Amino acid sequence: MRDWTRRDVMKTGLAASLGAWAGSKRIPGGPVAEDAAGPPASAALEAPAARERLLLDFGWRFHLGHARDPLRDFGFGDTRDQQFGMFGKTGEFMFAPSKLDFDVREWREVDLPHDWVVELPFENAEGLYNQGFKPVGRGYPATSIGWYRRTFDLPASDLGRRLSLEFDGVFRDCLVAINGVYLGRNLSGYSPFSFDITDLASCGGTNVLLVRCDATEHEGWFYEGAGIYRHVWLVKTAPVHVAQWGTCVTTAVQGGVATVSVATQVENEGDDAPACRVRSSIADPAGRVVATAATAPVRLAGWSGRAFTQQLPVKAPELWSVETPRLYRLTTSVEVGGAEVDRYETPFGIRTLRFDPDQGFFLNGARVELKGTCNHQDHAGVGSALPDALQAYRVRRLKDMGSNAYRTSHNPPTAELLDACDRLGMLVLDENRMMSSSDEGLSQFSRLIRRDRNHPCVFAWSIGNEEWFVQGAERGALIAAAMKRLARRLDPSRLVTEAMNGDWGKGLSDVVDIQGFNYFASDIDAYHRDHPRQPTMGTETASTVSTRGVYANDPARGYLSAYDLNFPRWAATAERWWSYFDARPFLAGGFAWTGFDYRGEPTPYQWPCISSHFGILDTCGFAKDNFYYYRAWWGAEPVLHLFPHWNWPGKEGQEIDVWVHSNLERVELFLNGTRIGAQDVRRDTHLAWKVPYAPGTLEARGSRGGQVVLTARRETTGAPARLLLVPDRTTISADREDAVVVEVRVVDAAGRLVPVADDEVTFQVSGPGKVIGVGNGDPSSHEADKGTVRRAFNGLCMAIVQATKDPGALHVTATAPGVAGGEAVVTCQAAAARPAAG
Ligand code: GAL
Repeated sequence: MRDWTRRDVMKTGLAASLGAWAGSKRIPGGPVAEDAAGPPASAALEAPAARERLLLDFGWRFHLGHARDPLRDFGFGDTRDQQFGMFGKTGEFMFAPSKLDFDVREWREVDLPHDWVVELPFENAEGLYNQGFKPVGRGYPATSIGWYRRTFDLPASDLGRRLSLEFDGVFRDCLVAINGVYLGRNLSGYSPFSFDITDLASCGGTNVLLVRCDATEHEGWFYEGAGIYRHVWLVKTAPVHVAQWGTCVTTAVQGGVATVSVATQVENEGDDAPACRVRSSIADPAGRVVATAATAPVRLAGWSGRAFTQQLPVKAPELWSVETPRLYRLTTSVEVGGAEVDRYETPFGIRTLRFDPDQGFFLNGARVELKGTCNHQDHAGVGSALPDALQAYRVRRLKDMGSNAYRTSHNPPTAELLDACDRLGMLVLDENRMMSSSDEGLSQFSRLIRRDRNHPCVFAWSIGNEEWFVQGAERGALIAAAMKRLARRLDPSRLVTEAMNGDWGKGLSDVVDIQGFNYFASDIDAYHRDHPRQPTMGTETASTVSTRGVYANDPARGYLSAYDLNFPRWAATAERWWSYFDARPFLAGGFAWTGFDYRGEPTPYQWPCISSHFGILDTCGFAKDNFYYYRAWWGAEPVLHLFPHWNWPGKEGQEIDVWVHSNLERVELFLNGTRIGAQDVRRDTHLAWKVPYAPGTLEARGSRGGQVVLTARRETTGAPARLLLVPDRTTISADREDAVVVEVRVVDAAGRLVPVADDEVTFQVSGPGKVIGVGNGDPSSHEADKGTVRRAFNGLCMAIVQATKDPGALHVTATAPGVAGGEAVVTCQAAAARPAAG
């Protein structure tokens, strides 16, 4: 019988990288080791019961590598001194940095999520337009490879457990090794992936995890960042356990009772064949258990898996909706020999979805017009590495505008975005990266569906965006059919669409359940008439371009006026697209491109502009004027928004275009107390006047039923006098992850926002927190996102401040030359941090 004790390992030279090897292991699936020190044959049953999911975000080391020079790439691809290449023999993969005693002093300490591209300086070079003029890609070998290294200890008691690493997203094409052994490669920067490390981990010793990311190739035509920009987890389970994303919950509601159908995939990754059963219990939004069920015990052969299905009735269910996002929780318990060996939690919602070709989309039986935005995933200050708190911040900003739907263009989002949408009530069109029916393509799509199918917010799958090479062709239809088959198999509860920008009625149109229209070059009415049984929606519209606080196009500086006027050839104003969609009940609604500005695609200007202007909010989440157009026609509250600002020295007597976004009935306008005029409001449109400029106060009075309901003023302000700090939340969790957005407003002596102020603001934090990024929404700013200094742009800038694990008062101060500084105090409340790997 094979003796595989540590001595053997030493002979191969592997031990140096494996570190201290605690005793022998039983070889699962092989002969039982005769080593007395090894765990007994019943290890599967005696392994620690509870599942542990440990955050592996903290304490990494990072170093840039090199895409062309092996010597600057930690020997990667350097075969001069090695008899075999990197993939020659198991155990020598990325060998130097895999060694336990590798000198990491030159490697920077970083915590995840981390995006190294946001740290790079801007560069005005050809080919960098899409990536926001950051030097990343094949032409930039010195800044396109990133190495991450993390050591972690495992207790000897982990022997006998199944151990795996889960990566939520790494940009991109990464190679992963543990203890010098190649684990695998993941291509797409947006798909989650995992590796089982049970056979390679050193229990009772230190493990070396290495990730080499290669961002020389892009997937998008927008800023993508690079690195381990989402969470990493170390998961420990008993051999018998629920598979990753192993629960599938669907709900049906009839006669005031919901039937919750649960399919649970249980794996037995051990030699024993124990009888096991699944117990499911459902807790309502208040945490009360409202339904339970248990399967009969079933013997599960070693190294096999099976699905257990159950149906649980829930009486008088509290339905998940955009207004009342009620969440239930399924707790799955796997029992072996009467003892619980695994417990797995699945939040879910009870709600019904339906599309109708003539009436659009129905949630819980009621028509809901999709008032949506498309969004990329980067944000000011942090690039693509958003703390979870920022996901929620962004969703709150969109909800505040009256938006109820989010398209994750053009890639699988991070799971925490969907958590925020579940919690806050935002429907999601969950989008795949690229259409493909290859093994790799279907694997990416299946990971998206299996990970996301229990989120009540997800209302449909988008298989891709503007696949113009195939969308009108038969092969496009065949690819789409393969993807739709997969979607139906993994999730029978949702329909499939594709964001088509042409070829409607051909190719993919015959396959997708919902016809998506990107922009509306086609005659949508004619399409509906010719395809009376197919539901339709505007998967992408608008692409209106505007810069916050700017009221004339300025090509030299790369700014666009914030009136709802500018759009590229294929696009439209907010008013044009929304009034068109709103007037057609057969359309389920649409998704404006975009909710937030994002880096890259600066349209129509290029350098010095580095961000897009498509956002209704800028990169920081500050509202542009169009925000109020949408809020007026999407939201439920009365709106009266008057613009532009009223600081126009030198323009005295000249006519200024004055606009109002309002959903009231009539608006009357005054300048310095003199009536300018009054206009009735027409649905889905704005009001406009030309007003000769005189400093002072411009005032709009909005009325309903003859009564003034709201008044809005624009006053000519004085010079900047002080900084006013406004945190988005005043209490955050001292859990090392939570973060607060601290907005700085430059105000005059009377406390009015100075709409043209560009003071240079310096942030300082005292107490348990640190600045992780700054921004101002200026699409042409080349200031560093990482740092503590930022100019105000049209009166505003912000810092993102992250908590440590210490509770206490966090004092954020902002100062600028010549004005009084300001301070915000945020309470960091004691909170249980998520369990993290040591
Ligand atoms: C669309 C595309 C988006 C973005 C947009 C800009 O065609 O789907 O990703 O490029 O144009 O208007």
